Amino acid sequence: MTITELQTAGGNSENQTGPTEFDLLMDSVRAEFDTQFTWDYERGHDGLNRLYEKAKRSQWNVSDDLDWSTPVDPEHMIRLQAEATGIPAGMPARSLLDVKGSPVASWNEDQWVDFAVHSQAASLSQFLHGEQGALLCTARLVESVPWIEAKYYGATQVVDEARHVEAFARYLDEKMPTTYPVNENLKSLLDTVLRDERWDLVYLGMQVVIEGLALAAFGLMLGTTQEPLLKQMLKYVMADEARHVAFGILSLQEIYDDLPAADFRERQEFAYEACDMMRRRTLNAELWPRFGIENAEIETLLPRQSSQQALQRLLFSKIVPNCKKLGLLDHRDGWLRERFQEMGVIQYEDWENTAEALTIGDAVEPIFANSTNDRPPPNED
Ligand SMILES: [Fe+2]
Ligand SMILES: [Fe+2]
Repeated sequence: MTITELQTAGGNSENQTGPTEFDLLMDSVRAEFDTQFTWDYERGHDGLNRLYEKAKRSQWNVSDDLDWSTPVDPEHMIRLQAEATGIPAGMPARSLLDVKGSPVASWNEDQWVDFAVHSQAASLSQFLHGEQGALLCTARLVESVPWIEAKYYGATQVVDEARHVEAFARYLDEKMPTTYPVNENLKSLLDTVLRDERWDLVYLGMQVVIEGLALAAFGLMLGTTQEPLLKQMLKYVMADEARHVAFGILSLQEIYDDLPAADFRERQEFAYEACDMMRRRTLNAELWPRFGIENAEIETLLPRQSSQQALQRLLFSKIVPNCKKLGLLDHRDGWLRERFQEMGVIQYEDWENTAEALTIGDAVEPIFANSTNDRPPPNED
């Protein structure tokens, strides 16, 4: 069973008072919202109907459809990936070698490989926690969305998200050295979304921002990893996620067309704040202390590195076009457009590329191009 490492002191034995280890792993969010029945069973939303039919036909099983007998050696996986992509292990963090007085100046290749293994575990851990967030948010949507087709579709997404939690938890448990706790920016956004009584903000925060970012991150990992089980798992998960983002867009377009200006402005600001929180997540704050480096130092140095900026921008390549489709970019004299310009991500506004298509050519090369590290020889195979 995957148990995230406890950050607090260990639990107590049964005859002691105080919280048990089980208690310490629980985390409640208090929310007040309307659970909506509908007595209108007419199905008038064609897009949602089609999506629901597709979802029912696209179910898969973590236990049967993935080959869990595949042996995984994390270090070998990282070395193979570096060979195949030409990107040295540990990028973009490795670009800190270019910084004068760098805290990683003395690291050798083996340390970078170890760091990259943990970086992969940290990314997969955030995928896992994000998937649990998606599971809870989608259950909320089933309760609170007013249309019967959206409740039907949402119910299939609840199953999808449970399957994704199961898949990432099992992969981390069986194939990776450790599971990291949830990133505080991701948790803060999940809490914000779940506390809000307005169901459309659950869609906007989860289905548009978090899932959009996840789809881009899954695509990057799929485009770089050479590990067959992980590739297989990401492909299955991404096929589901593409439907989830579509669910958010279809549902929100319906109500955002008629939203009063002041309410729409709140949605623009919410979308920006959600993006800003997720931008901070990419620094992997939960990872660095393990390697004896304080996060404060990383927060100062890493965002200035062009390879880190290139990676961060790519992660927004799915969110920006979806905000445009919802009319969020240009409302109120383009307030959100300006924010995205400041973040350097507005160029994605018309991107229709699939998440897979942005992997090798668009992600790998820019990340490498800005590094002065030695490029490993290309894989001859
Ligand atoms: Fe998911
Ligand atoms: Fe999802």
